[in-house]
Amino acid sequence: MTLTSLPPQLSRILISEEAIQQRVRELAQQISNDYASVERLYLVGVLRGAFIFLADLARHLTIPHVVDFIAVSSYGKSAASGAVRLLMDLREPVENQHVLLVEDIVDSGQTLDYLLHTLHGRRPASLHTCVLVQKKRDSLPVPVNYLGFEIPDVWVVGYGLDYADTFRTLPYIAELKPEVYQ
Ligand code: IMP
Ligand code: MG
Repeated sequence: MTLTSLPPQLSRILISEEAIQQRVRELAQQISNDYASVERLYLVGVLRGAFIFLADLARHLTIPHVVDFIAVSSYGKSAASGAVRLLMDLREPVENQHVLLVEDIVDSGQTLDYLLHTLHGRRPASLHTCVLVQKKRDSLPVPVNYLGFEIPDVWVVGYGLDYADTFRTLPYIAELKPEVYQ
């Protein structure tokens, strides 16, 4: 990937396609080991950002699993916080299921916190989180059990992550130029 083919709104590639694919394989291996004794793993992808990560992760798992999705409202383009709302619920009840929440990115942790509380109330057998990228913070806002990468506090796009619904299908994760979103 040469710099000349980077869209003009992006300043640099933070995580290459190769690094993502390698890390996703490692995470899948770790998850497959950790859940080796469960009957099946109930994967919950958070729409829309996690759809690509979940698709790749799930295909590297070597344990029985099912895939489901949940959708929440995003609070906008920048860091302004707002209440998280459930837009689309799971297809099945998750009582007694081993649930793994799969999320693209954790910033303030509000979204994951909301989802953890919501799903915890449904009495799953276990509930853990797998996040591809987390923005570096002094304190960890929510428990992340499987983490792909830690990144600086910048707006990133690609591999499912968007800015105003664009750049989701780039194979790498890149930094958006600050002048585009500020
Ligand atoms: P949080 O609730 O502050 O942790 O934010 C999580 C949600 O905000 C994610 O699920 C994303 O949808 C969105 N988000 C936060 N930072 C970024 C980013 O840098 N790029 C794209 N989406 C982001
Ligand atoms: Mg998201």
